Amino acid sequence: MTRELRGQVAIVTGGSRGIGLAIARTLASTGVHVTITGRDDGRLSAARREIDGAGPGGVEAIRADVRDYAQAEGVVAATVSRFGGLDILINNAGVGAFAHVADMTPDTWAHVIGTNLTGAYNFCHAAMPRLRARNGGYIINISSLAGANPFIGGAAYCASKAGLNAFSEALMQEVRYDNIRVTYVMPGSVATAFSGDESRGADWKIASDDVAAVVLDLLTSDRRSLTSRVEIRPSKPRK
Ligand SMILES: NC(=O)c1ccc[n+]([C@@H]2O[C@H](COP(=O)([O-])OP(=O)(O)OC[C@H]3O[C@@H](n4cnc5c(N)ncnc54)[C@H](OP(=O)(O)O)[C@@H]3O)[C@@H](O)[C@H]2O)c1
Repeated sequence: MTRELRGQVAIVTGGSRGIGLAIARTLASTGVHVTITGRDDGRLSAARREIDGAGPGGVEAIRADVRDYAQAEGVVAATVSRFGGLDILINNAGVGAFAHVADMTPDTWAHVIGTNLTGAYNFCHAAMPRLRARNGGYIINISSLAGANPFIGGAAYCASKAGLNAFSEALMQEVRYDNIRVTYVMPGSVATAFSGDESRGADWKIASDDVAAVVLDLLTSDRRSLTSRVEIRPSKPRK
């Protein structure tokens, strides 16, 4: 089933740790060539070594901020130059900043919306001509259940993910006849460093590898059908 992905080319934004690293590792293990991005060189180098050991797919690690359109274009161009094209875009890079609106600075607001929403636009816009050049592909946007369940202190984060959901649904309808499938994945609590190091040991949470397995299922599903939205919850959340 996974054989059909061998030799394809993917970009995973925010692939230097957490969910993005798990997705990149899983793709490389099936023979997909993967470019990961992030802002920290040390984390990118460590992730690159880890992904390199995961399987036959090649790996490129590029420092780039998803908020900057020119950097998104640079990542797409470098990926095509290294691997010959682009088939899969995983918009995963994201940040959380939680505060009441009255206490949230304009900079924090712009950082969250710029990363979680504009970052996805930047990479989609830069990648679309390359996907069309391959006669199709797959875009998966990693959203959050927070996009459908707003909570106090989550105005920026929840709005960014609700925006990403709407963006994904509109885009899905725009590009489906170009053979480009678009899915947004909405996990609940995942055990990463996203909400502080203490969450790493929380065994009730979803594991990053669980999200990666869902992404692999989507990518290997028959092109005739499109799972446009996925919700993933911990089976037994903390009471
Ligand atoms: N963990 C959860 O409970 C949870 C639940 C639902 C949804 N999600 C979503 O899942 C995605 C991944 O989260 P995670 O838990 O894996 O978080 P994480 O462990 O904090 O990893 C976030 C990744 O995004 C990168 N990143 C952040 N800002 C960036 C920017 N401006 N440009 C480029 N890369 C950037 C980080 O690298 P650098 O910091 O080095 O740039 C890192 O690779 C996010 O979109 C998040 O909203 C997470």
